Amino acid sequence: MEPVLDARRHAMLEAMGIDVWVRRDAVDAGDGAIAPVVGPVPRGMPASGGDAVAELAALAQEVAACTACPLAETRTQTVFGVGAATARCLVIGEAPGAEEDRRGEPFVGRAGQLLNAMLAAIGLARESVYIANILKCRPPNNRDPQPAEVAACSGFLRRQIALVAPRVILAVGRIAAQNLLGVETPIGRMRGQDYVYAGTDIPVVVTYHPAYLLRSPGEKRKAWTDLQRAKRLLDAAGDA
Ligand code: URA
Repeated sequence: MEPVLDARRHAMLEAMGIDVWVRRDAVDAGDGAIAPVVGPVPRGMPASGGDAVAELAALAQEVAACTACPLAETRTQTVFGVGAATARCLVIGEAPGAEEDRRGEPFVGRAGQLLNAMLAAIGLARESVYIANILKCRPPNNRDPQPAEVAACSGFLRRQIALVAPRVILAVGRIAAQNLLGVETPIGRMRGQDYVYAGTDIPVVVTYHPAYLLRSPGEKRKAWTDLQRAKRLLDAAGDA
């Protein structure tokens, strides 16, 4: 590896709280059978018409005008998503928090800083990925999203995924993973499993939410294993 990149990667791993001398053979190989995806995610996802940037901008306008659930009354603004329209990696979190609601961008608080370090640890700049949430509006007091809110927002996320057409989806946290995949499996058991987003062959890698990792730094090693899994899948997908 190029020395400069190596040094930068070491710095990022340190930010994640990962010892850089992790033994290779301690890393979870992470190969298992493709788990069936259940839930209400429709099949036959339409491919992007080509101009993903314009279509995402139009979708963002639609989201900004949404009043489909009561969160429209309490939000400061919608938080649509950010990043490269043709990103190979799509990160999906839960819902905007206070800072995201104020700034209109996902993952800009402390959890966002850790997310940036996690991505950088596998060589991905924040600007090179696309980041979105299950919900586009902040639930009051950061409570868990309610099923009706998730249902009201799910079409937006489905269209975002179709437009970005990523090679890998990284679901961060229980809420993102369970709602994206339509399962109720505890996140600890979803980690390390092979999932695909329903109706597509896009692999979904499940890992812990950075906010959880800030509270439980001892779990960062497991998140690092998950990130390496995502990196392997991206590498396997090639440049396309
Ligand atoms: N947590 C999330 O899940 N998403 C955000 O955008 C911010 C914090």
